[in-house]
Amino acid sequence: MSHYPVLRPRRLRMNQNLRRMVRETTLSVDNLIAPLFVRHGQGVERPIVSMPGHNQLSVDMAVREAETLAEMGIPAVLLFGIPQVKDATGSENYDPEGIVPQAIRAIKAAVPEMIVISDMCCCEYTDHGHCGILNAIDSPGYDSHLPEGYLLNDQTLEILGHASTVHAEAGVDIIAPSGMMDGMVGAIRQALDAAGFAHTTIMSYSAKFASGFYGPFRDAAESPPSFGDRSQYQMDPPNSREALKEVSLDVEEGADILMVKPALAYLDIIQRIKDEFALPLAAYQVSGEFSMVKAAAAQGWIDEDRVALESLYAIRRAGADMIITYFAKDAVRWLKG
Ligand code: PBG
Repeated sequence: MSHYPVLRPRRLRMNQNLRRMVRETTLSVDNLIAPLFVRHGQGVERPIVSMPGHNQLSVDMAVREAETLAEMGIPAVLLFGIPQVKDATGSENYDPEGIVPQAIRAIKAAVPEMIVISDMCCCEYTDHGHCGILNAIDSPGYDSHLPEGYLLNDQTLEILGHASTVHAEAGVDIIAPSGMMDGMVGAIRQALDAAGFAHTTIMSYSAKFASGFYGPFRDAAESPPSFGDRSQYQMDPPNSREALKEVSLDVEEGADILMVKPALAYLDIIQRIKDEFALPLAAYQVSGEFSMVKAAAAQGWIDEDRVALESLYAIRRAGADMIITYFAKDAVRWLKG
């Protein structure tokens, strides 16, 4: 008998209750943040073809959705806006009557306890689809030392700071800058504090990679760049040490919550940041991560709930405290069994 093992890890896998008792990672509704896409109009619920089950919503419908999410126990929503008009500076982003400020006011009025986060970027609002102001010969901030079409960092910071105060004025709880501009957290913190919004929280997309996984989001937010891509500002996917550098800058500039995006292909980054920094950490399970699961499940090739929950657990296991996910509502249902 001596050649049989004494140590048998399988003992603890015998049944569901034993497995529950030794489970190392938890996933709960507390961890989930639901993204919402808001557009102008009334009673609008416009399906996002590449993201089955998700819609662009007018403000009244977004309020209803926020109420449903609140009833399910989901603590927070992340807002993206589809503007009426797009222009060179993305002016609807800092218009108090813009779509996101409207949605912030309406959701906070209807569901005051819902934490409302606004994605702070220019790309949904600019006619060129880039995340800031572009260098152009006929524009006020023109820099002859930089190529035409180069995204001007510091001019963009001015806009982000100003737009953040407009969203704060509308009542947003958390500003989430996602454009990967140098100094964006510091500029937004300064602008918020100067305008009397010292309590408004910043969740920084600290380590956001130039990723192909954002594909379906183009449909959702109607924000593809009209030329080139985002590689001059978002991080190069092979880099890991650089993510720590980006995070440490955000920490110095006053970020309250850090973020890694995308999630599943960057679990190592999540783990490194969690190990080295004490701030709460979010991970964004992005549109492509969602749509790949949906598409394969629709073919009958994988089980949607198993794969989605397994991915969410993996993101938690790597160290994310909160997860922005298009599976938020589904996950709550699945977790209830
Ligand atoms: C805006 C922004 C993007 C996403 C979130 N904020 C698009 C991009 O950076 O290209 C992607 C979210 C997703 O794919 O679910 N900068």
